[in-house]
Amino acid sequence: MCGIVGVVSNKNVNEKLFNGLSNLEYRGYDSVGMCFINGGKFSIKKGVGKLEEVHKKVNFLKLNGNIGLGHCRWSTHGGVTEKNAHPHVDCKNKISVVHNGIIENYSELKDELTKKGHKFYSQTDTEVIAHLIEENLEGNKVEEALRAALKKVEGSYALGILFADEPGKLFAARNESPLIIGLGKNENFIASDVPSILSYTNKIVYLEDKEIAVLTNDGFDVFDLNGKEKRKKVHTIHWSKESSQKSGYKHFMLKEIYEQPRAIADTLNERIVNNSIIFEKEFALSDDFLKKIKRIVIVACGTSWHAALVGEFMFEELAKIPTEVEYASEFRYRHALLDKNTLVIAISQSGETADTIAALKEAKKYGVKTLSICNVIGSSITRISHDIIYTRAGPEIGVASTKAFTTQLAVLYLLTILLSKIRKTLNEKQIKDMIEGIRKIPLQLQSVLDEDDEILECAELYYNKLNSLYLGRGINFPIALEGALKLKEVSYIHAEGYPAAEMKHGPIALIDKNMPVVVIAPHDIYTYKKVLGNIEEVKARGGIIIAIATVGDKEVKKRAKHVIYIPKNLYTLSSILAIVPLQLLAYHIADKLGRDVDRPRSLAKSVTVE
Ligand code: AGP
Repeated sequence: MCGIVGVVSNKNVNEKLFNGLSNLEYRGYDSVGMCFINGGKFSIKKGVGKLEEVHKKVNFLKLNGNIGLGHCRWSTHGGVTEKNAHPHVDCKNKISVVHNGIIENYSELKDELTKKGHKFYSQTDTEVIAHLIEENLEGNKVEEALRAALKKVEGSYALGILFADEPGKLFAARNESPLIIGLGKNENFIASDVPSILSYTNKIVYLEDKEIAVLTNDGFDVFDLNGKEKRKKVHTIHWSKESSQKSGYKHFMLKEIYEQPRAIADTLNERIVNNSIIFEKEFALSDDFLKKIKRIVIVACGTSWHAALVGEFMFEELAKIPTEVEYASEFRYRHALLDKNTLVIAISQSGETADTIAALKEAKKYGVKTLSICNVIGSSITRISHDIIYTRAGPEIGVASTKAFTTQLAVLYLLTILLSKIRKTLNEKQIKDMIEGIRKIPLQLQSVLDEDDEILECAELYYNKLNSLYLGRGINFPIALEGALKLKEVSYIHAEGYPAAEMKHGPIALIDKNMPVVVIAPHDIYTYKKVLGNIEEVKARGGIIIAIATVGDKEVKKRAKHVIYIPKNLYTLSSILAIVPLQLLAYHIADKLGRDVDRPRSLAKSVTVE
């Protein structure tokens, strides 16, 4: 994980670097550091803690220079200490490196370099890169030394590198960790993601694996590891500057929860045409292929994996396609049985999750078609997979995924309509109903958000409980998992999601008067009555029931202590509506507990290491 930002300009870059770094803090906040070049020497400040804390101690804004690098760390190798904070330098203090990723052969490299007389100051894998470049610099130009060094490195890296004797050049390289170039006016940037530099530019170049970039204030060049120049496409990103700012909300998570009606509306926009679903040109799977597929396998992690479970339900129930959902981290290391009639779908907000990337690469070895559902245009996953459907959530900054999840559900729903239509598993009337259903969702989500005060009341009553259980069935079992994950990650309260009936096989033993039990119980023809029974079982044991029910429902009200209502819609859409109160509940509980909601401990927004 870790965040990297770098700027080279014809004027002082101090503030831009600081702002870029503060936008990247969601990627890691163990420690932070900055480096500038002044008069052929580095000025470096770094420390342990979040940017604001370290800034109070060292005053980053006192550093000056027309070129600089910044880094926020999510530690992998070496404890959280000032010595291990980036940037790391070589023995002569002439090469400064910031890194995101893991150098897998760092221990061998370190031994070799130590034998050659290099002195190491940190326990990090990153420091070997500075020394390795130094070792190769003898008699070589810096570009040659950099290439020679990177040829010896195994593992993942996004690197920002400065040479004290090259004060007009910012160097960057990537392999399996995200890194972009941003093109400004008389200034150019490198960064781990687009939102961090969106206030300065929306002209973006994506670095590919094993590419090295050299940026000056008026241009950039990209080479492969053999020094061959590469032509790169400049992408224009149409995200607004405001979308990467809090805009008056206390936290990004809250802002992003509230953005969901808009995000869903954007995700649907121009994709429903006369009862048909039309995705953009990045989705070119033929009707013929979609008719033929015998199986779908979905790979994803975390919240995206929960979205995949909802997708599984919809694909099987409506499009009648056997579907399996796999944790990407498991799928990548097993020999899945895939053939040409299987479609592999990867779901990822960031498009940079290391395990999901690896799972996609694994799937491609079998020659199967791959489709990614992703939020970040041009991210790694979208460049690896054959076809893409973008969720249009806009930048998601809060570590806890919210609007990315509901837009993933919306895309899966649209894809289900498309598949059902092509495969004729639903008739025109059913398709029409599905389309009418999803069109209502943005307004209906707004009405769920309007219940925020009641959700806050629940949070105020129960924020000090130590455990909680989330129960749901069918399409809402994944919503129970997702609700529990939200609570865990932002409040650090233990929570478990279960299929409601499965509770009897163990978790029921945990229920007593101190246990809040959140039950998702929308009115449906499938399991509603069974869930009422489950609520009774919880009640009989004194559990505190917080239920999500369909507006007008009286039965749930009779049994539950608190009821949050969601509007009536098709059962398949109840999951998009039901998750929103659970996101708000997790948010308010975490906020009441004084947690750092947008930067929960030990978590990073995109998990770019295994
Ligand atoms: C969600 O709240 C989590 N922070 C996390 O589980 C996340 O969904 C997971 O890491 C996958 O990320 P991706 O969607 O960017 O691939």
